[in-house]
Amino acid sequence: MLTLTAIVITALRYAQDVHIGSVIPFSAYGWLFLTHFAILLPFFATYGIFLAPRFSANKHLPTVQQGPVLARLFKEPNSIDFLRWIEEIPNDGLIRFHGVLNGERILITTTEGTKVVHDGDTKDFHRPLAAKAILTRLTGGAIFAAEGREHAAQRKEMTPAFKHRHLKELYPTFWSKTVELVRSLQRHEASTTEKSVIEIDDWVSRGTLDAIALAGFGFDFNSIAQPGSELVRKYRTAFLPGKSAARIRILANIVPIKLLFNLPMKRNRDAKACIQAIRSALYSVVQKRQDEPSIEKQSRQDILAVMLDSPLFKTNTNLIVSQCMAFLAAGHEASALALGWTLHELSKDHKRQQKLRDEIRANLPSPDSGVPIEASQIDRLEYLGAVVQESLRKWGPVPRQTRISPRAMEVSGHIVPKNTPLVVSFYAMNRMQENWGPEAADFVPERWLGDSQAKSLGGSKDRYCFSTFSHGARSCIGQRFAHYEVLVFLAGLVGSFEWSPADSEGVVEADHDSTVMLKVKNGLHLTVKEVGGW
Ligand code: HEM
Repeated sequence: MLTLTAIVITALRYAQDVHIGSVIPFSAYGWLFLTHFAILLPFFATYGIFLAPRFSANKHLPTVQQGPVLARLFKEPNSIDFLRWIEEIPNDGLIRFHGVLNGERILITTTEGTKVVHDGDTKDFHRPLAAKAILTRLTGGAIFAAEGREHAAQRKEMTPAFKHRHLKELYPTFWSKTVELVRSLQRHEASTTEKSVIEIDDWVSRGTLDAIALAGFGFDFNSIAQPGSELVRKYRTAFLPGKSAARIRILANIVPIKLLFNLPMKRNRDAKACIQAIRSALYSVVQKRQDEPSIEKQSRQDILAVMLDSPLFKTNTNLIVSQCMAFLAAGHEASALALGWTLHELSKDHKRQQKLRDEIRANLPSPDSGVPIEASQIDRLEYLGAVVQESLRKWGPVPRQTRISPRAMEVSGHIVPKNTPLVVSFYAMNRMQENWGPEAADFVPERWLGDSQAKSLGGSKDRYCFSTFSHGARSCIGQRFAHYEVLVFLAGLVGSFEWSPADSEGVVEADHDSTVMLKVKNGLHLTVKEVGGW
């Protein structure tokens, strides 16, 4: 039975690889398609799973011994594996390993190699088709799906929105949402008689959702105040699908993604309806802003204002909405996770937590004071900056990236055949001893303090070691936005509260099998206690 299943799914994977899925619509020719492939199934299965690895042109590369194929047929190696392999297997820049259905992948093990992929991104290297399809369904395409010149044009038009001089105007918005979150937590803590244990990921996720939508396009989800509202519920269904996202990525190695998305399943129906609902809400926001008198338009400081000023976007409402969807998809959860992981580290280290609180309280007004803040007040808090940078290094929310090239490419002195998935493990780059020294696995904010070299490299070998936001043409356009947002929220949360682990040990398990974002398994639970006197 298992063999038969493997046969069917390998054939379907082959269909996806040669793009048959996009040429013949499954809805019309599905059965015909399947019948033809059923005849060829045994050949595809035997070849794909058992024989192809033996004939691979990459056979000369150091190859990971992963054990019997049938025991790992549906398993994709994770960040822990990558880091271990890089540090233990002798290699000169590339390591060969196998993923779902024994599919071949190449892991890049040096910053020199990752630089080649980053530098050639969108021109020589592309996202795998399945990843692109998943992002396109969610966002409608836009920056995530664009490659080459189209991608460069979109980036160019949006870049002004992410420059410091523009982003500094958004600090007061971040602070207003921080104040709201702090007050909401204060009320929650006051209402509990025992020690107050909260699932912090949920709280900060509401904060960063409100912040990105408000600072990005002047739209308030109001999810801190009304977490159960219809729109927030729909947003969560569309954008935070939990474990099903990881399963879809695994399945996408096996079944053509278009077929997967069109299966008559509740998850597909719900996702479509909820994505549509969020798009409609954003569409109204954009239309309203397009109709505003120009004097009002000029007073706006958000990302939408920059798009409405750009010849490429301003009259294309659908493209603007897709871009807003992309910002939600890229920015909301990643920023929330960054905050959660930082609070986790600080909860285990009260000495550093107190040092940070002292710095914050000495320099910022309390959220209760009603006094607004400015960018410069946050930017000069050195220890806050170092804590956030170190947390982003150790717990970068996006653990990996896969790219393929339609041509054979030279990477780390080897010619990699076309269409070979190349994996960059941001997690491994951020934690390798070769990059960061003997304390690579520890949380040491102090590595980011000192002269300008320490501040920019944190003692690492070169700037490609810090991989949290990727590099090159597809690096995170929202890097500064995210950084400032996390700084502001953290200032409010650590200034106001003391954070401790929910259990005495403070051990949490990271969910490394979700390849999209690095989360805490079963949620991050922390004890929160208000600290008076600010
Ligand atoms: C701590 C928070 C964040 C982290 C760790 C992060 C990380 C990343 C990474 C690693 C990529 C590259 C992904 C890939 O190519 O496969 C990326 C892309 C992107 N990020 Fe972020 N991001 C964060 C926050 C944000 C925010 C707040 C925004 C928007 C305001 C944003 C917008 C984007 C966009 C639009 C892309 C796609 C860029 C392109 O394809 O040209 N990100 N991000």
